[in-house]
Amino acid sequence: MMEPAPFDIGRYVTRSRAVDLSGIAWDEVRNYPLPAGTVRTLRYMQDIECHTIVYLRELLATRVIDDPEVAAFLPCWFYEEAFHGRALARFLEAAGHSTIERVRSRESFRKRLEAAAIAGIGRMWRDFTAAHMSWGAINELTTLTGYKRLTEVAQHPVLDELLKRIIRDESRHFDFYFRQAERRLKSPGAARVTRFLIEHFWAPVGSGVQPVEEVRFLARYLLSGPEGRDAARRIDSTIGTLPGLAGVRLVESWVDRECGRGDSDRFSAAGGVPVGDVAECVPNS
Ligand SMILES: [Fe+2]
Ligand SMILES: [Fe+2]
Repeated sequence: MMEPAPFDIGRYVTRSRAVDLSGIAWDEVRNYPLPAGTVRTLRYMQDIECHTIVYLRELLATRVIDDPEVAAFLPCWFYEEAFHGRALARFLEAAGHSTIERVRSRESFRKRLEAAAIAGIGRMWRDFTAAHMSWGAINELTTLTGYKRLTEVAQHPVLDELLKRIIRDESRHFDFYFRQAERRLKSPGAARVTRFLIEHFWAPVGSGVQPVEEVRFLARYLLSGPEGRDAARRIDSTIGTLPGLAGVRLVESWVDRECGRGDSDRFSAAGGVPVGDVAECVPNS
């Protein structure tokens, strides 16, 4: 089988820029209905995109920055993610909805402990970068799949155009992490520990930042029902092509866990869209 072309980091760095918002019809946002569930999802995504600065802070204390390609990628990645957050905030404001503002330096004791543990392991464990790159690949693929699903569920032409542009960036991010993981997981030891870590500890981006009911809502809104379930399976099967990760069941298991808590019928009845949340959202004036 032909090897895929390696990720061209030089090209990525020179082309990295803020998501292009030219021509987005902001003044037409209110001309189309926006489901309440979509607003809720967008607020989650806007918060998490803006939270990248915290993930970056954690990463900078680990050995991932010793790799020149990763060190070149991270500032551009962070810059692009920050602008995704700003773009989603602008959309929400154009639709008449509030955005999430958070004091990001203030963290719970548990989160600080977690960050210290990551920093410690990240400095000591030789194959930490392999695990981190795999984790990043799963998260980028979940994010980009989430945006694609949101486009299908929301059926809002302005949002559709905006998310298309964000998805292009997320695809490049995924490509970077995936190629890195692919190379590093060729070491059986790295692959074994990575598999153990992701199977026991992986949770979608935003878990631990957003309240648990919001994370659960997202699982149901975007990844339940036939189309959502299919999307979750595709994420798992793509990640399963990485060395040592064949057959992993991450996103689908997570959806099973979250949708198994209570009212899954209410959600699956509308093909993944919660019936109570498809009503048009009335914008704040
Ligand atoms: Fe993003
Ligand atoms: Fe991304």
